[in-house]
Amino acid sequence: MFRSLYSKLAVVILILFTLVGFLMVTVVMYATGMYRQEVSQKLHRDLAENLVKENLLIKNNKISHDALDHIFHMLMVINPSIELYLLDPNGNVLDYSAAPGKVKRKRVSLDPITKWVSGDIKIPLQGDDPRHLNRQKVFSAARIPKKGKLEGYLYIILGGEDYDTIAQKIQGSYILKMSSWMITAGLFFAVITGLFIFAMLTCRLKKLATGMNSFKRGESLASVDLPRVKVPAFLNDEVDHLSQTFKEMAERIEEQIEKLQKSDLLRRELVANVSHDLRTPLATLTAYIETMQLKEADLSMDERRKYLKVARKHCERLSSLVDDLFELARLEARETVLNIEPFNIAELVQDVVQNYELSAKEKNITLTSNIGQDLSFVRGDIGLVERVLENLIMNGLRHTPEGGTVSIMLSPSDEYMNVQVLDTGVGIPDEIQPHIFDRYYKVDEPETFPASFAGLGLAIAKRIMDLHDSSIEVESEPDTGTCFTFRLPVYSTS
Ligand SMILES: Nc1ncnc2c1ncn2[C@@H]1O[C@H](COP(=O)(O)OP(=O)(O)OP(=O)(O)O)[C@@H](O)[C@H]1O
Ligand SMILES: [Mg+2]
Repeated sequence: MFRSLYSKLAVVILILFTLVGFLMVTVVMYATGMYRQEVSQKLHRDLAENLVKENLLIKNNKISHDALDHIFHMLMVINPSIELYLLDPNGNVLDYSAAPGKVKRKRVSLDPITKWVSGDIKIPLQGDDPRHLNRQKVFSAARIPKKGKLEGYLYIILGGEDYDTIAQKIQGSYILKMSSWMITAGLFFAVITGLFIFAMLTCRLKKLATGMNSFKRGESLASVDLPRVKVPAFLNDEVDHLSQTFKEMAERIEEQIEKLQKSDLLRRELVANVSHDLRTPLATLTAYIETMQLKEADLSMDERRKYLKVARKHCERLSSLVDDLFELARLEARETVLNIEPFNIAELVQDVVQNYELSAKEKNITLTSNIGQDLSFVRGDIGLVERVLENLIMNGLRHTPEGGTVSIMLSPSDEYMNVQVLDTGVGIPDEIQPHIFDRYYKVDEPETFPASFAGLGLAIAKRIMDLHDSSIEVESEPDTGTCFTFRLPVYSTS
C-alpha cells in the first residue's frame, strides 16, 4: 500500500501536520495560560501587601481569626478565584479561605514567597498551590510583622482552581474553542492542498516512470508517452529536467543501437565482400598454378610466362587489397594519434604528380598540377594527405578515357587551402554520388575491372579527412568529369 511515492508523501504530510497541529495547540494553550497568569499577578501584585498594611489582621498584637474570616469571606464574594492562606514563618498553613478538605498541603515552599517579598522578581512567578500536591500557581504574598518580628505570611493564590487537561481548558473557553477549530480547519485545508499538489507532482513522475519502463521493455521512444516539458525553459522543474534528460539519453541509446545495427550490417557485408574479393584472385591464382603443375611438360615458354604474369598480377592485387583493408582498420582505430605538422602542400602535389606521370602517359592522359605562386604551408599529417591525393589521382586516371586530363588545383580561401582533383572522365551519376565514400562501395563494372578494385580508396580518403576535422566533397557530371575537393587549414607563422 505504501509502495508508491504518493502514499509515502501523504502519510508523511499527515503525520507532520498532526504533530504541528498538536504543537500549535499546546503552544497557544501554554502561552494564553502564562499570559493570563502574568496579567492576574500584575493586577494583584500589591493585594497581599495592602491587606496587611490596612492592619486588619492584627488585633491586640495577635492575628485575629475573625478578621481573617471576614477578609476571606469578602474576597470570596468579590473574586471567587482568589484563595487566601495564612502561613507561619516556616511556610506551614495556619488558616485558609477554602472549604475544608480542599487543601491538600500543610506546608508550602518559602523560596518563591521570600523572593516575592524581597521584590526582585520576574512576573509570572509561581508558588506552591496548597490545594494540589504538585501544582504551582501565581500568587501575591506579604509579610505579617508583629512588633518588627515576623509573625507569618499572607499568601494569596490567584486564578482559583484550574483545569487539569487541555481538553477541559478548550471546553471551558469560547475563544479557545474557536481558535482550536480554526487551527484544525487551517491544518485540514493545508493537508488537502498538500495532498493535491503531491498528486500533481507524483503523477508526472509516475508517467515518466511508466514511459521509462515501456522504453526498457523495448518500445521505441516515439511511441512512449512521457510528461510534456514546459516550453519556456525557466518554467522547468526537476521533473522536466529529468524527463528531458531521459529523452536525450533514450535518443542517444536509439542512435547507438542504430549505429550498432548499421555497423553490424557493414561488418557482415565486409566479411562477405572481403571473402568474395579475396576468393576471386585466390581462385584464379590456384587455377593457374594447378594448370602449370598439371601441364608442366606441355606448356611452351611463352605460355608459362603468360601464366606466371597473370598469377603475379593477382598476387599484387591480393596484397594491395589486404594493405587497404589494414590501412582502413588502422585509421578507424586511431582517433587521435595524427602526426599534424606544417608542410608545403605545393611540393607534396608535385611529388605525387611526378609518381603518376608514367602511368598517365601509358594511358595517354595529361596529368597536370596548377598550384599557383607563393602557396603557403598547411597543417596536417603529410603521409595521410599524400594517401588521399594518391587515391584521388588513381581514381581520376582509372575513370578517364584516353586523351583526357587529370589536374590538381590549389586555391586558398580564408584560412583554408582547397585542394581539387579534377578529371574529364566518365563522371559519377547523381544517385550514386552519396554512396561512393562508403566502404566497399564501387560501381559494378565487371567487364572493365573484373574484381580488381576493392572500393576502399574513397572510404580511406574520407576517414583521413574526418581525422583532420575536415571533409571531402565530390561534384560530378556523367560524361563530363569529376571534381573531388578537400580542405586543409593554412599554417601561418604569425
Ligand atoms: N574520378 C572518378 N570518376 C568516376 N567515378 C569515380 C571516380 N572516383 C571514384 N569513382 C567511383 O567511385 C567508386 C568508389 O571509388 P573508390 O576509390 O572508393 O573505390 P575503387 O577505386 O573502386 O577501389 P580502390 O580505390 O579500393 O582500388 C568507384 O568504384 C567509382 O565507381
Ligand atoms: Mg579508388
